Formats: sequence, C-alpha cells, structure tokens
Amino acid sequence: MKITVIGSGYVGLVTGTCFAEFGFYVTCVDNNQQKIAQLNQDIIPIYEPGLDVMVAHNLARGRLAFTTAIQESVREADVVFIAVGTPSRRGEGHADLSYVYSAAEEIAAALEGYTVIVTKSTVPVGTGRKVKQIIRQKRPQAEFDVVSNPEFLREGSAIEDFMKPDRVVIGSEAERATAVMQELYRPLSSLETPIVFTTLETAELTKYASNAFLSTKIAFINEIADLCERCGADIQGVAKGMGLDKRIGERFLNAGPGYGGSCFPKDTLALMHTANDYGTRVSIVDAAVTSNKARKQSMTKKVIGACGGDVRGKTLCVLGVTFKPDTDDMRDAPSLDIVPSLIKAGAKIRAFDPQGQKEGRDMLPPEVEWFEDPYMAMKEADAVVIITEWNEFRALDFNQMKLLLKKPLMIDLRNIYVPSQVQEKGFDYVSIGRSPAHGFSRSKAPILRVVS
Ligand SMILES: NC(=O)c1ccc[n+]([C@@H]2O[C@H](COP(=O)([O-])OP(=O)(O)OC[C@H]3O[C@@H](n4cnc5c(N)ncnc54)[C@H](O)[C@@H]3O)[C@@H](O)[C@H]2O)c1
Repeated sequence: MKITVIGSGYVGLVTGTCFAEFGFYVTCVDNNQQKIAQLNQDIIPIYEPGLDVMVAHNLARGRLAFTTAIQESVREADVVFIAVGTPSRRGEGHADLSYVYSAAEEIAAALEGYTVIVTKSTVPVGTGRKVKQIIRQKRPQAEFDVVSNPEFLREGSAIEDFMKPDRVVIGSEAERATAVMQELYRPLSSLETPIVFTTLETAELTKYASNAFLSTKIAFINEIADLCERCGADIQGVAKGMGLDKRIGERFLNAGPGYGGSCFPKDTLALMHTANDYGTRVSIVDAAVTSNKARKQSMTKKVIGACGGDVRGKTLCVLGVTFKPDTDDMRDAPSLDIVPSLIKAGAKIRAFDPQGQKEGRDMLPPEVEWFEDPYMAMKEADAVVIITEWNEFRALDFNQMKLLLKKPLMIDLRNIYVPSQVQEKGFDYVSIGRSPAHGFSRSKAPILRVVS
C-alpha cells in the first residue's frame, strides 16, 4: 500500500515515518521547499526525540521519500493523509481550514484510481464532508472516500504515542475505505490497540472533546493550586490523592504556569466556536480558557512578588521557554506571556532552553539574552525562574548556582524540586501551590507516603 502524507510538520512527519517503519511505502509532501530540502539531506527540521534515527533508517530502506511534488505523489497513492496546520483564524477562534481546503483542491486535481483521503489534521465537525464536496465538485467521476482519523500524539513522545497509542479513532462510512484503514492499522490492532470505528462527525468531535477535557483538567488543578497557597495545603499531595482515584487518573494534574502549545489553546477556542455555530455552549471549556488566560498573567505577578514586588533593574535567569520539554515548539508557550511581561515590568532576561533557542529568538522580544548553558545564563542574575521542566533542570548544581547568582532565589513554576531540599541548600524557593499566601514556604516537604 502506498501512502502520501500532505504536510510534513510535527504530525505529518511522525505519521509518515511511523507508517514507513511499519513497512508501508510513504511519501511526505510539503509546500515548504526548504523543509523538504532539509529532509532530503537527512536534516530534521523539528526536534522530536528518536525521529532522526527513524527517518534515516526508513530513507535508507527506500520506504520513505520527501517531495514538494504533491500531484505526482497523490496520483500514485492508495491513501492520502492531510496533516496540514489548522491554526486559529486571526482575530477570532474558529479553526483556519484554508490549508486543509487547499490541500483538498490539490488532491482533487491529481486523483487516479480508488483513493482513501484521510483528515489527520484536527478539524471541526463537518470538515470531512466539506473536503468530500470540494473533491466531488472538481472531479465528479473520481473514485474516492473521505475518512477522519484524528491524531492524539504528544510532542516530545510522538513516536511512542504513535506506535503505542491508547486508541485509534477512525470515522469512516464506506466499507471499502474501512477495509483500507483496517489494513493500515493492522500493525497496531494486532498488538491489541483499541481501534474505534465510528462516523466522520463523531471522530472529528472526539479529538476536540479530548483536548478540551485535558485542558480543563489542567486549568482545574491550577485553580486548586491557588487555593492551596491560600489555605496551607500542598498541591502535590492533593494531586496525588486525587489522581490515585482511577476515575480521575494522575496525568494532567501537574499544576504549573497554564497550558500552552500547538493544540490545547487553539482547539479549546475552536470547540467553543463550533458549539456556538450549532446554537449551544460548552461553558466549562469557556471557563477553562478564561482561567488559563488569567493563569499566565498571574505567573508574572508571582515572579515579581517573589522578587520583592519590583523587578525594575533586576536580572532574571529564565530556564525553559518551549511549551513543554522535549520539543522546540514555542506555539502559545506560557513563556510568550511571562517573559515579555517581565521585560515590560523592567526586568532584564538571560535565557537558556536546550532546544527552544532558535524559535525563542524569533518569538520573544529581542532584548532577551540567550546562552548555551544554564549556568552561563545565571551569571549575576537576581533569581532563577524555571518555566519549562526539561530534565536537565532537575538536578542543578546549587553550589555552583550560589556562586553565580546575586541572590539564591529560585522561582519554580513547574514544581520540579522539593521545597525543603532547595531551602536546605540555602535558597529561597517559590513554587506553585505549596507556599503560604504571599510568602516563601520554609516548611518541610509535605508528608506524602503512599503505602500499597
Ligand atoms: N503538533 C501536535 O502535537 C499535534 C497533535 C495532534 C494533532 N495535531 C494537529 O495536526 C495538524 C498539523 O499540526 P502540526 O503541528 O504538524 O503542524 P505544522 O505547522 O508543524 O505542520 C504543518 C505542515 O503543513 C505544511 N502545509 C500546509 N499547507 C500545505 C499544502 N497545501 N501542501 C503541502 N504542505 C502544506 C506546512 O508547510 C507545514 O510544514 C493540526 O491540525 C494540529 O492541530 C497536532
């Protein structure tokens, strides 16, 4: 079976490479010539752990190819995935479907023989039918079906997520297309991965409902963290105690600076707009969006408060700017709100991120000074602010930090340290949901024993 993937970004490139790894012949297409030129020279344009090795392996086996020639690759394909971006429309929250529709036009022009067209991009309810209509109008005689197969991978663990997903959701209404999709996902179904076959609309909405639910979980735990700070409870303990309840689950209960990234912010907004278009409301999602927006702003206040209420003339070392670890993706990262607000409040920023420096330079104000190493960024700073929980920040050398910093102050917006351990090293430590109102926590680590 020959597969063409249109859009070679975080999702398209991983999808194509993983299908090649399963043994299919895959062509990844992109209209960004530079991206394709890089891929053809074995340069991976994004940072995703393990992807470089897998791409090289499949290129060498002749199962993976990269091209800008969409027509040619669609003509030869049995299955065409659409994996282009669906960002928020400028100035409002509807998903911008122009890339999807333009891909559909290009597919229509090239179709030859029976082809299954699969929307992998996250698209609102009704998009699959619209794609079908676009192609049918242009090519009334063409033999094709449109299927929805939303992607649930997470950046940073995308290969593992694709290869061992919790489930695969497929919206397909034609038996012929369903048979093709079954064949495509046989490597996963034979490993007992649940494959949910359903309608186009159900598949499309499942993706948005999942992302909105996870966003709500994060917004919820962040509000509980605020309450912890007021009432003396500890958010780590609350999250643990809640998460052990199987009905709730431990994941996505990490309090922090608010959700960001390429999916949750835009998908929650798009879902609100879809609900509105259908004359209903998703008021809980609405509340999560409002809460998350306020969260990012309140993080700046938290940092300024920890620095004595004023950062004018102070230098802050920011560790981590990407929206999460193990990615270079900066889309809607909390740092994009926090860093500019700190600069506006008068702070100088010295920053380090293991993979985000290139994107960070483009997306953060030019005043930010960048360093190749976390300790270089700490030199003469008044405080260290951890915004992204990269593993390499989990065991910082506190003795070295004390020599470099003007003051031993750490503001940890990801709770990667135990307060008492940082304080024992002589640091003032401010974290999330663990300190009493408006002050530094000097309390011992919370009593958190889980006995099975
Ligand atoms: N990034 C994630 O973690 C993630 C996870 C699940 C789902 N999704 C969804 O997957 C979709 C893609 O997201 P992404 O993060 O991979 O986006 P991306 O911006 O990284 O990649 C999209 C790619 O499509 C290319 N493109 C656009 N129009 C094209 C066309 N007509 N022909 C050829 N190439 C074209 C762009 O040049 C770009 O390289 C979105 O709908 C997103 O919501 C993303």
